[in-house]
Amino acid sequence: MTTIMDIRNLTKNFPGDNDMLQVLEGVSFSIQPQEFVCIVGPSGCGKSTLLRLLDGLLRPSSGEIIFEGKPLQGPKQRIGFVFQEANLMPWRTTIENIILPLELKGLPREVFFERAQSMIELVGLKSFEAMYPRDLSGGMAQRVAIARALISEPDVLLLDEPFGALDALTRERMGSELIRVWKARKVTVLMVTHSIDEAVLLSDRVLVLSRRPASVCLNLPISLPRPRKLEMTHTQAFGKLAGKIREGIQSS
Ligand SMILES: Nc1ncnc2c1ncn2[C@@H]1O[C@H](COP(=O)(O)OP(=O)(O)OP(=O)(O)O)[C@@H](O)[C@H]1O
Ligand SMILES: [Mg+2]
Repeated sequence: MTTIMDIRNLTKNFPGDNDMLQVLEGVSFSIQPQEFVCIVGPSGCGKSTLLRLLDGLLRPSSGEIIFEGKPLQGPKQRIGFVFQEANLMPWRTTIENIILPLELKGLPREVFFERAQSMIELVGLKSFEAMYPRDLSGGMAQRVAIARALISEPDVLLLDEPFGALDALTRERMGSELIRVWKARKVTVLMVTHSIDEAVLLSDRVLVLSRRPASVCLNLPISLPRPRKLEMTHTQAFGKLAGKIREGIQSS
C-alpha cells in the first residue's frame, strides 16, 4: 500500500513576546490510503496546530508534509477540514451551506445540485435541506459541516474534535455515522479527539502526542474487528488498548 500522507520531522514555532513558543518538535508519521487515524494528546499540546499544518493553512517551521507523493505547499481541495464548531453561514439553508465550496469554485448550480443531494442522503439530512442553521441541533449542524467538507470529494478528511460540543449520546451516534460515511466514501480520516474510548472505538491506529513541544510518543494500531459495537468498550482487549493510550498521555 502506498502512503497518502508522509509527515517528516515536522517542527512548528510561534513567535512569543520574548522568545519562540515551540509547539511541535520532530513530529513524524505516515498515513495509508483509507486509514482511520485518531490523534490524542494533552490539552494545548499542538493537536489543532498539527491539523492546520496538514491542511496547508499553516506552514511548518521545518520538516516536510508529503501529500500524494508531493510536498504540500498550501490548502488543497483534496483535503477537507471539519472544525469543532460547525461554522455554518446562518443566512444559508442546509443545502446552500453544503454547496458553498463548489459555488466558490464558480461552478453553475445545476452541476453540483446532484452531488449535494447524494451528500445529503449520505449524512442523513434528508428533509432538512431547506432548514436554517438556527433550527438544527448540534449533531445536525455537524452533519452539514461534514457534508460540506465531503462535497469537494477530498481524499483526506481532517476533523478537529468534531463531536466535542455534543452530548454523550449524540456523540456516540455521530461516531458510528462517521464510520458509515468513511466506508461509503473510501476517504482517509485523520481525527483529533479528547476521548480515548472514541479513538479506540473508531480508528485503525491512534497517535499519541506528547506534551509541548509535541512529538508522537505512541503509534498504536487498533486491531479490534469491525464492525465495532459500543459494548466492546467493556471488553478486556478494548480496556488494554485504552490503558496503553492513557499511560502514553500521562507519561508524555
Ligand atoms: N496562531 C498562533 N499563534 C501563537 N500561538 C499559537 C497559535 N496557534 C496556537 N498557538 C499556541 O500553540 C499551542 C498549541 O495550541 P493548539 O491549539 O494546537 O493545541 P491543542 O492540542 O489543539 O489544544 P486543545 O486540546 O485545547 O484543543 C498553545 O499554547 C497555543 O496557545
Ligand atoms: Mg485543539
